[in-house]
Amino acid sequence: MSEHESALTCLSASSTHQHRSASVAVSLSRLPPPRRGKRSDRHVLWPAKQQYHHLRHYSHELKFPNAAGGCGACVVLISKYDPATDEVTEFSASSCLTLLHSVDRCSVTTTEGIGNTKDGYHSVQERLAGFHASQCGFCTPGMCMSMFSALVKANKKSERPAPPAGFSKLTVSEAERAVSGNLCRCTGYRPIVDACKSFAADVDLEDLGLNCFWKKGTEPADVNKLPGYNSGAVCTFPEFLKSEIKSSVDQANVAPVTVSDDNGWYHPKSIEELYRLFDSNWFDENSVKIVASNTGSGVYKDQDLYDKYIDIKGIPELSVINRNSKGIELGAVVSISKVIEVLSDGNLVFRKIADHLNKVASPFVRNTATIGGNIIMAQRLPFASDIATVLLAAGSVITIQVASKRICLTLEEFLQQPPCDHRTLLLSIFVPDWASDDIAFETFRAAPRPFGNAVSYVNSAFLARTSSDHLIEEICLAFGAYGVEHATRVRKVENFLKGKLLSPSVILEAVRLLKVTVSPSKGTAHPEYRISLSVSFLFNFLSSLVNSSNVPVKVDTLNASYTNGITNGSTEYSPVEHLKVDSNDLPIRSRQEMVFSDEYKPVGKPIKKAGAELQASGEAIYVDDIPAPKDCLYGAFIYSTHPHAQVKGIKFKSSLASEKVITVITAKDIPSGGENVGSSFLTFGDEALFADPVAEFAGQNIGVVIAETQRYAYMAAKQAVIEYSSENLEPPILTIEDAIQRNSYIQVPPFVAPKPVGNYIQGMSEADHKILSAEVKLESQYYFYMETQVALAIPDEDNCITIYSSTQMPELTQNLVARCLAIPFHNVRVICRRVGGGFGGKAMKATHIACACAIAAFKLRRPVKMYLDRKTDMIMAGGRHPVKVKYSVGFKSDGKITALHLDLGINAGISPDASPVMPHAIIGALKKYNWGNLAFDTKVCKTNVTSKSAMRAPGDVQGSFIAEAIIEHVASVLSVDTNTIRKKNLHDFKSLAVFYGESAGEASTYSLVSMFDKLALSPDYQRRAEMIEHFNNSNKWKKRGISCVPGTYEVSLRPTPGKVSIMNDGSIAVEVGGVEIGQGLWTKVKQMAAFGLGQLCHDGGKCLLDKVRVIQADTLSMIQGGMTAGSTTSETSCEAVRKSCAVLVKRLKPIKESLEANASPVKWSALIAKAIMVSVNLSAQAYWTPDPSFTSYLNYGAAISEVEVDVLTGATTILRSDLVYDCGQSLNPAVDLGQIEGSFVQGVGFFTNEDYATNSDGLVIHDGTWTYKIPTVDTIPKQFNVEMFNSARDQKRVLSSKASGEPPLVLASSVHCAMREAIRAARKEFSVCTGPANSTAIFQMDVPATMPIVKELCGLDVVERYLESISATDPNTAKA
Ligand SMILES: Cc1cc2nc3c(=O)[nH]c(=O)nc-3n(C[C@H](O)[C@H](O)[C@H](O)COP(=O)(O)OP(=O)(O)OC[C@H]3O[C@@H](n4cnc5c(N)ncnc54)[C@H](O)[C@@H]3O)c2cc1C
Ligand code: FES
Repeated sequence: MSEHESALTCLSASSTHQHRSASVAVSLSRLPPPRRGKRSDRHVLWPAKQQYHHLRHYSHELKFPNAAGGCGACVVLISKYDPATDEVTEFSASSCLTLLHSVDRCSVTTTEGIGNTKDGYHSVQERLAGFHASQCGFCTPGMCMSMFSALVKANKKSERPAPPAGFSKLTVSEAERAVSGNLCRCTGYRPIVDACKSFAADVDLEDLGLNCFWKKGTEPADVNKLPGYNSGAVCTFPEFLKSEIKSSVDQANVAPVTVSDDNGWYHPKSIEELYRLFDSNWFDENSVKIVASNTGSGVYKDQDLYDKYIDIKGIPELSVINRNSKGIELGAVVSISKVIEVLSDGNLVFRKIADHLNKVASPFVRNTATIGGNIIMAQRLPFASDIATVLLAAGSVITIQVASKRICLTLEEFLQQPPCDHRTLLLSIFVPDWASDDIAFETFRAAPRPFGNAVSYVNSAFLARTSSDHLIEEICLAFGAYGVEHATRVRKVENFLKGKLLSPSVILEAVRLLKVTVSPSKGTAHPEYRISLSVSFLFNFLSSLVNSSNVPVKVDTLNASYTNGITNGSTEYSPVEHLKVDSNDLPIRSRQEMVFSDEYKPVGKPIKKAGAELQASGEAIYVDDIPAPKDCLYGAFIYSTHPHAQVKGIKFKSSLASEKVITVITAKDIPSGGENVGSSFLTFGDEALFADPVAEFAGQNIGVVIAETQRYAYMAAKQAVIEYSSENLEPPILTIEDAIQRNSYIQVPPFVAPKPVGNYIQGMSEADHKILSAEVKLESQYYFYMETQVALAIPDEDNCITIYSSTQMPELTQNLVARCLAIPFHNVRVICRRVGGGFGGKAMKATHIACACAIAAFKLRRPVKMYLDRKTDMIMAGGRHPVKVKYSVGFKSDGKITALHLDLGINAGISPDASPVMPHAIIGALKKYNWGNLAFDTKVCKTNVTSKSAMRAPGDVQGSFIAEAIIEHVASVLSVDTNTIRKKNLHDFKSLAVFYGESAGEASTYSLVSMFDKLALSPDYQRRAEMIEHFNNSNKWKKRGISCVPGTYEVSLRPTPGKVSIMNDGSIAVEVGGVEIGQGLWTKVKQMAAFGLGQLCHDGGKCLLDKVRVIQADTLSMIQGGMTAGSTTSETSCEAVRKSCAVLVKRLKPIKESLEANASPVKWSALIAKAIMVSVNLSAQAYWTPDPSFTSYLNYGAAISEVEVDVLTGATTILRSDLVYDCGQSLNPAVDLGQIEGSFVQGVGFFTNEDYATNSDGLVIHDGTWTYKIPTVDTIPKQFNVEMFNSARDQKRVLSSKASGEPPLVLASSVHCAMREAIRAARKEFSVCTGPANSTAIFQMDVPATMPIVKELCGLDVVERYLESISATDPNTAKA
């Protein structure tokens, strides 16, 4: 079906009677003619008292993983109809923050509404699929809608010319920003951006990456090969709703004022009406919420326990936009997007404010979030508002209504008042027009992401009026977000500067004054960093004024390209700056190089991911999408906030919460004979499911609240109050240091312990130089799968139970559930169709929730579902192992390392989980270099924190990083280029075999050296290194660094089952042990099944591809499924399938030959028909086990990264990353490319930004999208090149392929190393010698290297140092 015919599936909220009626009718899936009637319209009466529902209840394709507006998975398009103008306006919005009542009489279009399996997919969905831009698919519906909304918005720009056929009016840069607020944890964003850019009228299609539409490199790119795009194809507003709105307008106008309403929602139409509501006895400010767009609940989530709502958006006065010569008045409920639009078309101050607002939240939040809501939050709460700061500096005035009084105040006065009460209504904000030539205005913010959804560490805005002789006549300096209640003006500094002629010494004085004025309140994270940021911003602003003046001494400001966080543009007084490109504004470019092989086709073809369109249209079913069975109950964990305490009792804060609780399931509910076990791994030991009776760590499960709805369960769990007692208990062990002091360790069985190499003492004695006892530290990382932990347990007859679980380990889940319930394993069926992102977190960590649901379901004899909210998930998850290492290394003067000793401390948390294998993994990755002699002492520390578990590249990423830290240290001591030391110590094959034993394989497969040389010794690298040196010599405040890092990664092969069944119609069902977690397992398996059976087809199996369906994992159908982990599940599952196919081929070949004796070639359907007639068994199962002489092998890769560090803010921009990865003979190059890019970007997050912080009790405090920042589209490399290297054949591997899921992650340390190079240049520039070595060149940078850490290493006081140095030559010093 074409897009022209595509039907609208929209979710339209409209009222049945009047809009103040007790019930709201929601019409789902209304289809416009001519399709109307194909699917029946359903009207759902929405019961009173349940108004706080979000759209998710009505549409499964909406994903709500975070419910805080911070991830974009639930983006929808909202359309509003204005009957007066007969116009429809459309905008994207985050449905998790959108209350259903607020979209009354709107049309809500979800991704299924723009295209679906039945009616045909939309080109947005098809292009996302064809550019390989969907992996686990959980984020994909939101991506689709962000893209679709951007297209709708661009196409409404009447001033733009009509685009060429197949394109839209979108520009490439808009395409890149379209998904800036959407998180994806799998893909690394590059293919998503390509899909989006394919719609842009100004795109060069040849620049787009690997896709299914043309063969890159051999065929020309052509828009006609792309799925056709027609901007008018989707109607987003149904006619029936237009008619309904038109006919109700008059009625509404004459409707009497309502001051009470059963459904709890009020939509006053005037201020008087609002105040009548306030004055009624109905109003109680503790249970009534005044809402504009409700996005504030994404910021202050825990406060949304209301049962009545007053929607103020219908008050016309609050929507005014008045512009005159004095300024612009903006009504309080004008959306931020609208404010941007209005201000963009104004003078310098307005435009700068608009630019700044463009960095607030994300497009889909800004579209609804109101400016007034932001200001009220900033006034009432210590909210780090950007808007308050920039409006403060611009001298804004606000108007508020307090009872019958209307009051005008400056924004500064308003912010300084005590928090306004709930009866104070903000009416409007007036921003004066500063249309004058002698005004300078600038705004700044420093945030972990330049454009995508990150609140700032500090924001500021400055306005100055200077006289013709550049004297400061008037100045306003506003700072916010640095850890005080509200944005403030620094009056002392303003007064000091007023009347001064700027000079370096005056700026120095101002900066010193600022340092003692800006004072973050107690408890603010990184106070020194925030102060130094404030200094940087002021310095930047004032020095730009100096440079625009004719004072004799110029200040060296940002004379290079700008980067993240420092400014949103330059002042009109420094036109030179306008010519400079902000490196954040560089377009994303990419190149992919790979070799395709036809040898095993269709294996080896870059076919698109199985089910990609289904994921894009939101029809793919994840566990939470399974319709709730009859009588289903819902659960939420209550967790301990204490690290070591006896649990004495559980109560609930509010009676409302108690009312909603059906029961609380705890250890006492485990059936007789059942075990209190929530997780386990190999023979290492179990982890308890419930604290019983002692909570042993903060975040431990104490009990499960069971309620009738998920929302009630969440709400009640939040309200739980636990009574603790620490009597007679030892103080908790929280850190590696505590554990070592108290000898608290987890045993490492000898069979997983790493082996030392050579004789360390002797190696040390051969060394010319030694570094002794240097330290480096790596913190934890959270999985951030988009789909949080979820399970549904359905009790069955005869003590059986079915569990739908999002798990990488169905078999383990089955075993543990059976142990909890004391039933045989065959009573437990665990089903998993797909996982919305795993990364190791859905392995041992997913079993807890399944066991908890099972116990509750067993006890209550009703189905029980649990879907964790992001906060609980983050608190309980555990994540990657924090590691601390002390190393001593000996080396020759030429850089050859002779010996290395490590004291390795690993924080394992409370239970063994997979921790005993960590030393092996860390040391394994570290062995990528030839250390001569290697010794170590590893301690796996048992502590009172959540159990750490395997996370993508577990141990390997830490080991690989530690190796680089040591190599860099050696290079710094010898003052030689780091690559020289790397090269000197890379293995030859002989030493590789010594360090890795049999895993080293054949010499011909050792491809690392050639890959490293290809990158590090290339003329291009040398040229870039020279350019960087030149750049650093000519730029003071920006420094660049480049680094090339090798990676070696050992993987193991595990036995895996597979089953292939041919149905009567010739379609093929395949089952494997592995689970589809986004890694493309099903796609590779599908190709392998077609290849395996292809011997029976004339085209080698190509015709079978569409006949193969890989079906969900089911523990009773496929036993010994094992786990999906360690990067090799795809290849081993493929091998099991190939084996099964071989059995079928053996059975079918004689039949084929006999048929072909008469007529050739025989068709597949005829062959199967004949086989059925002669009773051939058309199902075959195999259990593949690796050859005992080949159970593991090594993967290799290398990467160069080039970064730019902003010395003033600590922000880093990755300018370019080039990866070369040996994928062997790839089973599917598109899938492997996705794994390489995605894991690299996940690694970038680990090394740079993902700060999984805890409080002093070990309780996770960075527990949501607000505080935990995974990479977004604006933080990936600006140029992202990947070459898939095809090393020598090795038939011992599956069709000579190699793994790709985890190994490329370790290459992200190249970014960290490049950052160190840049920081080194900064330290040299400013002679910064902080750290134990007291040297500019030698320093350690822990992981993650967040902005505060980078800035600290660059020097928190570089501005003062610099100003002091130039003040000496300043002829105005005396004057100052
Ligand atoms: C993911 C995300 C990221 C964000 N990032 C940033 C950022 O980087 N920088 C930044 O500055 N902000 C940021 N915000 C905050 C955002 O700007 C505010 O949430 C938004 O502007 C609030 O508007 P609203 O209409 O949704 O308010 P609501 O949520 O409806 O209301 C917020 C509060 O204000 C009250 N209120 C609203 N309007 C009025 C009025 N006219 N008179 C009296 N009381 C009123 C409400 O009762 C409520 O208490 C972010 C928000 C989210 C969700
Ligand atoms: S595909 Fe984006 S989160 Fe998985």
